[in-house]
Amino acid sequence: MRNHQASESVSIASSSGLASWLREANISLAFSTYRANRLLLLGTDATDQPQIKLNERLFDRPMGLFVAGESLWMAARCQLWRLDNLLAPGQLHEGGDRLYVPAASFTTGEVNAHELVLDADDQPIFVNTAFSCLATIKPRCSFAPTWAPPFITQFAGDDRCHLNGLALKDGLPTWATAFCSSGDPSSWRNQRSEGGVVIHIPSGELAATGLAMPHSPRWRDGKLWLLNSGTGELGWIEDGQFRALCYLSGFVRGLAFAAGFAVVGLSKLRSPEFTGLPLEERLNAEGNPGGCCGLRVIDLATGEIVHSLDLPDPIDELFDVAVLPGVRQPRALGLQGEEIDCLVKIPDQPELLHVRPMAPSGKPHQGPTLRPFGLPQPSTPTATTDSHHDTPASPGTPIRYQRVFHLTPANLAPYAELTFPSLAPGSTAITRIKGELLGLSAMASGVMVGLAIAERQADGSAQLLSLKVDVPWRRRGIGTGLLRRLMVFLAKEDIAPLTLRYKASPELSTCFEPILARLGWSTPRTDFVLLEGRSHQIDGINWADRFPIAAPYSLLPWHQLSETQVNQARALDAPTELQPPVDQRELEPSISLALLHHDAPVGWVLAHRTGAGSVRYSSLFVATGHRSRARALSLLAEGFRRQNAAAIPTGRAAIDHRNTAMLRLLKRHLGVHLLAIGRSRRCQSPPLKSLQATPNTSGSTER
Ligand SMILES: CC(C)(COP(=O)(O)OP(=O)(O)OC[C@H]1O[C@@H](n2cnc3c(N)ncnc32)[C@H](O)[C@@H]1OP(=O)(O)O)[C@@H](O)C(=O)NCCC(=O)NCCS
Repeated sequence: MRNHQASESVSIASSSGLASWLREANISLAFSTYRANRLLLLGTDATDQPQIKLNERLFDRPMGLFVAGESLWMAARCQLWRLDNLLAPGQLHEGGDRLYVPAASFTTGEVNAHELVLDADDQPIFVNTAFSCLATIKPRCSFAPTWAPPFITQFAGDDRCHLNGLALKDGLPTWATAFCSSGDPSSWRNQRSEGGVVIHIPSGELAATGLAMPHSPRWRDGKLWLLNSGTGELGWIEDGQFRALCYLSGFVRGLAFAAGFAVVGLSKLRSPEFTGLPLEERLNAEGNPGGCCGLRVIDLATGEIVHSLDLPDPIDELFDVAVLPGVRQPRALGLQGEEIDCLVKIPDQPELLHVRPMAPSGKPHQGPTLRPFGLPQPSTPTATTDSHHDTPASPGTPIRYQRVFHLTPANLAPYAELTFPSLAPGSTAITRIKGELLGLSAMASGVMVGLAIAERQADGSAQLLSLKVDVPWRRRGIGTGLLRRLMVFLAKEDIAPLTLRYKASPELSTCFEPILARLGWSTPRTDFVLLEGRSHQIDGINWADRFPIAAPYSLLPWHQLSETQVNQARALDAPTELQPPVDQRELEPSISLALLHHDAPVGWVLAHRTGAGSVRYSSLFVATGHRSRARALSLLAEGFRRQNAAAIPTGRAAIDHRNTAMLRLLKRHLGVHLLAIGRSRRCQSPPLKSLQATPNTSGSTER
């Protein structure tokens, strides 16, 4: 049985025994989610039939958690936080018996701090993932490195092995987990399935290899436990090997222990970044491709899941879990809201005092908007020609080319001005991104003036998604420099080939195609003819009246096809690019139609939604043997009629340039009804290996 409970804003589902288990074990739990920016505290109310109580607070990207007496330490985007309990023993505040308040922070900079601990001297030690080292805090420094794996030979902030987890033994940092045992920048991205390692910190030796994205090492009762996230398993290390205790349906990360039980955090699978993991196959086989997000309590004696907690959107990922011993219902104050301003604790006064704040928190003095350092500078409206020289684009300014790490569709927004074609939030291009993004920037005096972005494809190739140089900085070789360095970087990562598809235009022929030619790319060739029609124009199309679909043919909304009919449709002789998609949820239901002959599908028109007011006609197909009497035209006309009825103003399509039948149809019947006809061009970089001799990408100042 499941219990559904609402916290301040999150509604959770827990197994019925979880609250009693927490009560019996006399613990509560703290856990963190960095994608949803929350610290979550899970406890129970004070009744005899305990109910789950969840308290959540927003922090910026919380990750590692560590409990030290009455304090809770937390690694966040740029700071390590120490939250202190303000309540005296036995004192309650809004039902909670602990009130953790942000009491001190240490600014580390955005170094992707993962796990953190306090060592035997109460010194905070954290995993500095960006710099591939362990580090501590130091006055007048952002951090001080204390140890790095022996294979990290260069100290650089580019996450060389994805060092992420840290286990203490007898108060000493003793084991660390990493995604690979190599010091090449970002090489771990290619080794996710079996490159993971446990490193014995005192000796520097590898204590275990062959792991899949390992996390959360913990020394407990003489055993080194950890989570092999890429296989979804909790287990321990024995003789250099991972021994699995149990499998869980999610990306396991965050591990804590209470008596004979383990508490494990589960995250949903971010498929574009985690493709190819053994866990992905397992989840697909279970019919649960995304996996679960929540907590699982595992009986260490049997490996069985005895309790669970599932979390809803927007929480789809957890990072760490910590046990709060002797705590029934923990609560925290966040940095937002008035409570942090109002509540005051004074020595020897048992009660918290309320003071009245003068201004609401988070809104101190609103000065002029400042642009964060390093982000693209917006072009002024007049800066549309190469003659604009108001900006500091002086000829001698050195250009530094450097990787932009951890780019995702979600965090691309600040760079949107430097993307072409646009990857701004809500753009069609951004919704299509499925693979890992590889970004390279050109920086002039600390400001980004150019950006190239490629998307890694599942087959090991990459596609150039965007290249743009800010107007005042053009014609100085920066566009060429960016593309060349990106090609070199991809070659080093064994990502090949790099391809590009773009919509042909006179501007691109002038500004961009010379760069491609200069760098040895293949001559761009038209591969698709692009169409766009507005509903008021396609409204004039009357083929459906002229060529009605007559029995035994009929039309049926695609979503009403049975599974057998969908399989029959897939078995038709349609070329691969016109096949119906595997995930039918992608289809626009109001437009996508099947053409039936009796009950058997013999053709279709399929459309995808691409925005609030637009669809893309992705496939029009009629099986050979049924291609007469203008049935394709009737199908299309019915699609248009439904597009109109659904009040979707714009329809687009791309027709393969080899599809002569469709192009003929277009020329004869559609041309007059369409708004734009363009051409997409495709080309490919030269063998990338041949470029490896050219300079490195990071920190280079040469043009
Ligand atoms: C395309 C773009 C990235 C080129 O950047 P850039 O830094 O100006 O490129 P380079 O200085 O390396 O130019 C290389 C060559 O391209 C040609 N070129 C570039 N801009 C040109 C222009 N405005 N007129 C004529 N030739 C031009 C020239 O042959 C130039 O070499 P040259 O200066 O030695 O004569 C930039 O113009 C831009 O951001 N345009 C808008 C976005 C875009 O079109 N991106 C293409 C991705 S699909």
